[in-house]
Amino acid sequence: MANVFDKAAELGIVPVLSIPDVSHAVPLVKGLAKGGLPLIEVMFRTDAALDSIREIAEKCPEICVGAGTVVTIEQADAAMAAGAKFLVSPGFDPELVKHCVEKGYDILPGIATPTEIQNAVKFGLKYLKFFPAPTGGGTEALDMFSGPYPGVKFVVTGGMGADTIAEYLDVPCVAAVGGTFPAPMKMILDDDTDGIAEVTRRAVAEVFGFRIAHIGINSENEAEAKKTAETLARIFGLEVIPHDPCYFAGSLVEVMKGQGRGRLGHIAIGTRDIVRAAKYVERAGIALDWENAKYYPDGSLMCVFFRDDIAGFAFHLLAGPQKPKSDR
Ligand code: 3PG
Repeated sequence: MANVFDKAAELGIVPVLSIPDVSHAVPLVKGLAKGGLPLIEVMFRTDAALDSIREIAEKCPEICVGAGTVVTIEQADAAMAAGAKFLVSPGFDPELVKHCVEKGYDILPGIATPTEIQNAVKFGLKYLKFFPAPTGGGTEALDMFSGPYPGVKFVVTGGMGADTIAEYLDVPCVAAVGGTFPAPMKMILDDDTDGIAEVTRRAVAEVFGFRIAHIGINSENEAEAKKTAETLARIFGLEVIPHDPCYFAGSLVEVMKGQGRGRLGHIAIGTRDIVRAAKYVERAGIALDWENAKYYPDGSLMCVFFRDDIAGFAFHLLAGPQKPKSDR
């Protein structure tokens, strides 16, 4: 059954924030959404938490609002009554989880050990919060958890930042990275919606690692394509790789044997996570040409074009190869 944490996984980041006063709630979530994150976990760490959840649920129905630092059943019920769509607790409390499951609330309990994971999965939970991730063993612990608990996905939190997003999202069992990093407290207090949007946007960029993977050049015919590929290969010290329907000059340039897609050619945008990136560009209003998408032999998505050209160029997303760590 679909679960609200599937949405968090689609975004790749969960903003986990304290709101000092209810007046800051709407400017904050507007900034997050503008930066690409229409979701927030409001921590029960200030007196304004419950009112902030209610305010966001009422005034910004497009935002998926949840409650964090939920440590009692009373908080869970109050948050859901105020309009929360999910609950997050820092640790694993079987009574709290049982209550939430019975009530049909989406709960993300915190775990840090295999014992807690084992107890949590008994409740049929697919998503757990790994907190605090760095002291709990970081990416190495996550790799080890995925052996005995292959179906479990983790939202990783505790001291995360834009600089750790890529490292954690590259671990297959990680659904999302959470934390306070998408909105610095000073910007929350200043109701700096645009500032928050910019910080959020930079964090979101880390989720995808977008970069130019190659340029596609069109040709009149096969002979011209071969000549172009050989010229480029010679200049840049690359190998000519014959393909169908093109010649590659290394991985830099794809020379089409005729008029390929795009009046002026095409631009391939590499990303570390093409499935999540495809959903992201669709949310941004870009229609994708799924009928002509290409897949690897294992069925995973390799490449999908934007349906419409931009400034005469066709664009497609391309899975991997990953951006080198030094470029991140
Ligand atoms: C949490 O409960 O998830 C953390 O306290 C988030 O805060 P941090 O990103 O500042 O560690």
